[in-house]
Amino acid sequence: MSEEFGKAYWEERYRGRTALCSRRPNPQLVGEAGDLAPGTALDAGCGEGADAIWLASRGWRVTAVDIATTALRHAREHAETLGADITSRIDWVQADLTSWTPTEEHFDLVSTHYVHPAAPREALFRRLAASVAPGGTLLIVGHHPSDQQTTPSRASTPEVYFTAEEVAASLDPDRWDIAVAEARHRSATDPDGHEITIRDAVLRARKHP
Ligand SMILES: C[S@@+](CC[C@H](N)C(=O)[O-])C[C@H]1O[C@@H](n2cnc3c(N)ncnc32)[C@H](O)[C@@H]1O
Repeated sequence: MSEEFGKAYWEERYRGRTALCSRRPNPQLVGEAGDLAPGTALDAGCGEGADAIWLASRGWRVTAVDIATTALRHAREHAETLGADITSRIDWVQADLTSWTPTEEHFDLVSTHYVHPAAPREALFRRLAASVAPGGTLLIVGHHPSDQQTTPSRASTPEVYFTAEEVAASLDPDRWDIAVAEARHRSATDPDGHEITIRDAVLRARKHP
């Protein structure tokens, strides 16, 4: 893992703030998973839990993993305000995704949004893909390389960026159907408070039954 994005970095980002991440689920998750029948889901790098909570509210049984204990505390506290229906469906797990290995062929949905534990990203995505159950869905969303021009402050961390096509090429075509592999525009606010348009790399693939 790049030292820059180690546990201390993420703890510091979450400490002292009640909601670093939005409490709304990520739009790519809502768009890509909204029609899936609920089952078991893994949210890898769940942050303050908006995606895990949204999935649980739709009947998914969620394993939500993050390296930052502070983020997980905020996530759990938020979930508790929503009642037992939600809390009983989410297992919050503190773990380092660069070494944590999810059970193979287990989850009906594996979702990861903007996790940049950096190197070795390919190995992480391989483990996440392996943990998708036959017939299940893999959803990987990250920052598209073109954002390095849109948000110059982040250009010093090129390992954060990837294309969906790169991830799609790493999946065995005998085992996967690629449903979506593209860059999508999204509105965001830059560190100076200006509205900007950024691009997400969005990969959705279905493992053969
Ligand atoms: C940019 S935030 C995104 C959070 C959430 N997925 C979202 O979209 O709002 C990245 C998250 O990944 C987590 N993370 C980074 N490296 C990690 C690692 N090695 N293992 C587990 N979680 C990690 C961070 O703690 C942080 O919560």
